[in-house]
Amino acid sequence: MNHFSLKGKIAIVTGGGSGLGLCTVKRFLEAGAVVTMADISEKAAEIAKTEGCDFIRTDVSDEASVENLIKSVHSKYGKLDILVNNAGIIMPEQLLSDAVLEDYKKLFAVNVYGVVNGLKYGSKYISDGGVILNTASNSANGDYAGYGAYIASKCAVVGLTKAAAVELAHRNVRVNCICPNTIDTPMAYAEGCETELAVMKVTAPLARMCKPEEAAALYHFLASDDCRYITGEDIYIDGGLKAGPSTQLIDCILKGLGEEEQ
Ligand SMILES: NC(=O)c1ccc[n+]([C@@H]2O[C@H](COP(=O)([O-])OP(=O)(O)OC[C@H]3O[C@@H](n4cnc5c(N)ncnc54)[C@H](O)[C@@H]3O)[C@@H](O)[C@H]2O)c1
Repeated sequence: MNHFSLKGKIAIVTGGGSGLGLCTVKRFLEAGAVVTMADISEKAAEIAKTEGCDFIRTDVSDEASVENLIKSVHSKYGKLDILVNNAGIIMPEQLLSDAVLEDYKKLFAVNVYGVVNGLKYGSKYISDGGVILNTASNSANGDYAGYGAYIASKCAVVGLTKAAAVELAHRNVRVNCICPNTIDTPMAYAEGCETELAVMKVTAPLARMCKPEEAAALYHFLASDDCRYITGEDIYIDGGLKAGPSTQLIDCILKGLGEEEQ
């Protein structure tokens, strides 16, 4: 058996033009899949050409655009085996006491309704035995002050994942999501989100960012037939963050307390 092979699998990766999505596209191609990169960015078309995959310009927040993406791939190849609902955005830190609903709506349009759209048309067109993967975040387990909108959007992704896993299990379609800690992609350096970047090197026991290739490797495993008995899961890839604070963080706190006592 060729372990973790994706040979002959037809796959779609949304937000495939950058960061984690792009690494996932590359990883799936290396494993033998035929991949369609879907992204809102025009620049992604060039990147897809270089990588040797199809490209369909898609806005995941627009239902018709997602319907077109999934129908087009299905009609070109006659099936769809793997759908990765990965496109996502972040917004500048904003306390709940300052919540601007328009900002929430823009964020939810991509992070939540983008996944709803993917699950709606993914459910209709994915083959029996297929795989749907969603990108949540370690924020789904809580995060810093000011990240409320993003936390809520990623909690929704976890919830939708579990709901879809239950609804699609009778067709052996597996649905899982991953919850990465800060990944070293353009999103990690977004303006207005400096807290996470500043502290993440001391908060996680492994004391560094996740590389996009490391998260893409997890997607590869989850997409493969070797992973047939996992569904409905939110899988953390967080350098140990959920297990507990790092020794460096504890040292910082103890040092701070010591200084306070003097
Ligand atoms: N970078 C991190 O620290 C981090 C941590 C945890 C989870 N995530 C999640 O990982 C996913 C990928 O993020 P990334 O870090 O690779 O970011 P990125 O900004 O590098 O890539 C995101 C891609 O999504 C595309 N995109 C944005 N809006 C879109 C839309 N409406 N329709 C289609 N495509 C759209 C962008 O053009 C871009 O190519 C996101 O869901 C993000 O929330 C990121």
